[in-house]
Amino acid sequence: MTASGTPSDHASPAGRTADRERPPVVDFPLGPPGTMGPIEEYRRLRRECPVARVRTPMGAAAWYVTRYTDVRALLADARLVRPTINAWPIRPEDVPEPGPGLTTMMELDGPRHAALRRALADEFAIHTVEGRLARVRALAEGLLDDIEAGGRPADLAPDFAEPFPLLVMCDLVGIPYEDRDYFLPMADAALGALVTLDEGREVTHMLRSYIAELIARKRRRPGDDVLTRLVRRCDQGELDREEVICFGLSMLMAGYRTCTMFLADAILVLLTRPGQFARLRDDRGIMPRAVEELLRYLPVMNGVVVLQAARDIDLHGHTIHAGEAVLPVLAAANRDGSVFPGADRLDLRRDPNPHLTFGQGAHYCIGVHLARAELAVALDCLLDRFPGLRLAVDESELPWEDESPAKSPLAIPVEW
Ligand code: HEM
Repeated sequence: MTASGTPSDHASPAGRTADRERPPVVDFPLGPPGTMGPIEEYRRLRRECPVARVRTPMGAAAWYVTRYTDVRALLADARLVRPTINAWPIRPEDVPEPGPGLTTMMELDGPRHAALRRALADEFAIHTVEGRLARVRALAEGLLDDIEAGGRPADLAPDFAEPFPLLVMCDLVGIPYEDRDYFLPMADAALGALVTLDEGREVTHMLRSYIAELIARKRRRPGDDVLTRLVRRCDQGELDREEVICFGLSMLMAGYRTCTMFLADAILVLLTRPGQFARLRDDRGIMPRAVEELLRYLPVMNGVVVLQAARDIDLHGHTIHAGEAVLPVLAAANRDGSVFPGADRLDLRRDPNPHLTFGQGAHYCIGVHLARAELAVALDCLLDRFPGLRLAVDESELPWEDESPAKSPLAIPVEW
């Protein structure tokens, strides 16, 4: 057992046997209804079956990897590629894509990926994010003004956790927030991959057209935003148009939804632990460490990163065959007791905290500084504005989307 009372990880003889029978395909771990994730399941899998086989909610089988060292290594392993959203999950009716698919930066590799990362390095650098903090704070304050004016009780899920990361991303990148009713349903459908092949093609086509049209708008009316600057680089021959489209699609796919879920879960976790809430409210000096710890502790990244083996890979005595999907489960790695003492305890002062929430290697999250800033600013503003914030209903009454691998509460009714 570790200091926190959790059974120690890695006690099993996994890895000692030669090529073994494949584990049976089990249901995708979702955790009990009304909870953030499958914490018990992570513990058991890390110990007994660190390379498990699961059926994803879309019906495809995938390897589900839960130990920290394995997850870290897989994320940066060149033998694994990232399939495009259209290519995964592989569906029985799948035929090769006729046109360009929904390619985001995650699926780009080699020189094109490197060129785009270089072009964006300064845009997402820590000094750039620090220079925008006042703007980010103003966006949070604006939402809180509306919440306060609307009176009690308020719902922090739709009125704060959802719009705030989207507003921040749109403001930085130059995607009109007013267009959200158009692009959000399509982006959500593509993200959830809950579409038929034909619908997937249509969504891909429409999202690509939307970004292409936005690029044309930036040429006509340049703004002070990332997209305008990329279009300029494109006109100077430093990038091609396809890369700019790829960036725009990346922002719709990766630039806000995860932050929304982390923010909603973070607010809920603090509201249901009054001691931790008071600790953070009364000592903002711990905010940077508290944000890192929330990013580690909240199990949002439950099989969110999907890899595909380009060659056979041996892991703990199993052979992952070329073409098979591999899910390095960042949330499970973040609770690995061999790396994080008292891994299942929320310790807002934890340091060091080498969590894997932003990935590892060439595709490490480009929005890492922005995401951290968003969480810190959102919590800071919330605690300033409503020092006596509390849930307006019992925690057990909160609605969740329990079928989804990554979960956050759909409503957070509060009073103050
Ligand atoms: C808490 C919030 C966030 C989390 C947990 C998160 C997590 C991740 C992870 C794990 C990856 C790597 C995926 C892989 O290896 O395939 C990634 C990549 C990426 N993220 Fe984030 N992210 C967050 C916020 C953001 C934000 C705010 C932006 C931009 C506005 C962003 C943009 C991207 C992009 C463009 C990539 C692809 C990078 C590449 O392939 O080179 N992310 N993110």
